[in-house]
Amino acid sequence: MKSNVALIGFMGTGKTAVGKALAKKLGKEFIEMDSLIEQKAGKSIPEIFGEDGEIAFRELEIATAKEISKQKNLVIACGGGVVLNKINIDRLKNEAVIVYLTASPEVILKRVSNSEARPLLNVANKISQISELLQFRKPYYEQIADISINTSEFDIASVMEQIISRLKEVEGFRF
Ligand code: S3P
Repeated sequence: MKSNVALIGFMGTGKTAVGKALAKKLGKEFIEMDSLIEQKAGKSIPEIFGEDGEIAFRELEIATAKEISKQKNLVIACGGGVVLNKINIDRLKNEAVIVYLTASPEVILKRVSNSEARPLLNVANKISQISELLQFRKPYYEQIADISINTSEFDIASVMEQIISRLKEVEGFRF
């Protein structure tokens, strides 16, 4: 039986907001991978990218996913790039149902435009960067998702309720 829910999807699709609400509702612990990575590194995500580079960040991400995948009863908000290393998904899938949150590039842009915290979107033409990264990653997200939910009409409560009703159909998930 799986007792974790792992939320995957691009930056700005609502993984953190929905994850917090879902964890509360299900009585599970909420964990944000990016926060654990920052704790481990002793610095912020932009500092890790800026000082150590993306590869160093991805190594920290792999180590963090490994630790999390041994725990139970969690709702996990994964970083948007967690799917880039297959080992992360193989490990998470052992204990987690994978919920894929989607949104259109325009909605994503709106949600992340105030954020300095996303080094990959720190470029002049954000919308084309979002579209390119999305196009590359989409097959990875889709391939591993057990459940997919479009969050473009963002309403945390209704996205959460949709996830819960879909989880009820998943064989082998322990609420
Ligand atoms: C990343 C997404 C970010 C963070 C890092 C890299 C990505 O997490 O892990 O900036 O590669 O998509 P969020 O999806 O929580 O913003």
